Amino acid sequence: MIFPASVSRQCDDLAQLLGTACLPYLRSPGAPAREISVQSTYEAAWQSDAQFVLEAINSAAASKQAALAEATGNRSVFAIPLSSTENNKREHWFAIGRMNESPNVSGRLIHIAHEATRRQHQIDVQEIAILNAETEMERSYNERVWLRQLNAQRAIRKKTVGQQSRQSIESLRKLIDAEAIAIYLYSDTEVEGHGLESMISGKQVWTLDDARILIQRIQKPRCGESVILNGIEQQLHNGICHSCAIVPISEPEPIGYVLAINRRKHSSSVASKSEIGFVSSDAELLHEVAGYIAADGYSNASLLESEQLVLGTLRAMSNAIEARDPYTHGHSERVGSVAYQIALRLNLSEVACQEIYLAGVLHDIGKIGIPDHVLLKAGKLEPEEFDIIRKHPEIGHRILEELGKLKFALPGVLYHHERVDGTGYPHNLVGDEIPLMARILAVSDAYDAMTSSRVYRNAMGQQRAIEILSNGMRTQWDAEVVTACLQYFSELSLEAEDAYHEFARPKTTDWRQVSQALRVLQL
Ligand SMILES: [Fe+2]
Repeated sequence: MIFPASVSRQCDDLAQLLGTACLPYLRSPGAPAREISVQSTYEAAWQSDAQFVLEAINSAAASKQAALAEATGNRSVFAIPLSSTENNKREHWFAIGRMNESPNVSGRLIHIAHEATRRQHQIDVQEIAILNAETEMERSYNERVWLRQLNAQRAIRKKTVGQQSRQSIESLRKLIDAEAIAIYLYSDTEVEGHGLESMISGKQVWTLDDARILIQRIQKPRCGESVILNGIEQQLHNGICHSCAIVPISEPEPIGYVLAINRRKHSSSVASKSEIGFVSSDAELLHEVAGYIAADGYSNASLLESEQLVLGTLRAMSNAIEARDPYTHGHSERVGSVAYQIALRLNLSEVACQEIYLAGVLHDIGKIGIPDHVLLKAGKLEPEEFDIIRKHPEIGHRILEELGKLKFALPGVLYHHERVDGTGYPHNLVGDEIPLMARILAVSDAYDAMTSSRVYRNAMGQQRAIEILSNGMRTQWDAEVVTACLQYFSELSLEAEDAYHEFARPKTTDWRQVSQALRVLQL
């Protein structure tokens, strides 16, 4: 027979104090005294003392004190009322046992033991209350941390809605100790268009199919409401659901649900199995995820629209240059890619690296303003024609100034033809006066120009170009930037001998890479 934990504990304490076995005895609430019988478990052992047990129990129940029933000689039977259990204050439990002392001594002993156990029980109850309060505080703290992380993710927006949603439900699952948390969305092209997707996190046994079946079977919560079901037995595809919490994702009509399956333990109390289940604060946290999916999923859509606008502008400008000069196909993309790799090796942030990449794609945008007879001239340029070509950084600067979102690329576009010895153009800047972005672009631009074929000359070999870069350290180019560039090439040649051979290099702009950069830069 299994007894409530606190009943067993009190009996053990009494047995230690009295030095005799103490057995739990349940007196049914409201049962008339004559119907009380010694419980079947003890029947055989207590048969001979059954009437003394009843006498002691009745007496203890009436006085609410420890009571003794004298058997023969110095032998007596006692009954001691136990403090109520956590679960049911109407259950009246007693500890019963036998004493072989004189009734006088036995009577004193059982009263002392009763008082001591009663006090110990009060201490236990207080300790449990303190433990519960601590657990509650810990949970409340963890909830605040989780909410802060969720908000921080939303503010950064470096991840897609899908990635952010997955991260949110995984961390929430740990926080509320559920076996699984699922985002279940009605299949809808509009929903998918916003980057939203159904997903499940947690114990591998659970699948989205289980989430679907559960949602079909329950009374669905309406906008702003939640459904919590505990103590259920729902056989799903892959297991039995004992408890669940479900909230709708509304925008403004429900587009799906966030649901938690099977609470693994009741984190807020030292509780018995019957108390395992979700509570309203769990549902509140599910609402946070649902709100994030509804709001950010859709605002992400407007972000995508604006990204498409910037991307369209970039495409139009890049195509305008490359369409005029077939010999420069892919040049801007390659300058951007190599510049990105150099920036990475200079330990710049991801945002700075992506800015440098896009600045590379845009660096020669000013060539739009150079007349064809100069830009496409096959022979040697006259000095006045050079002067015209040299205007392209400033023309590019003026174009980009008008496009507010791409202003970060201005230093690269304006100064990518400066030299660290001060003999470059347009402003003859020296050394660190040249913005780092421009010093990086100068190296990747020069390298790509040297290793590409032009109408008036063939491409130079990679080794020769590397030699020229090395010789130009501290005169034409920044030494640190050249070092980072050479490091990149040596890593590349370890991977594949001719990975950067002219014919293997990109010939067009990698628009997926550009999109990725725009997303990181939140443009
Ligand atoms: Fe240029």
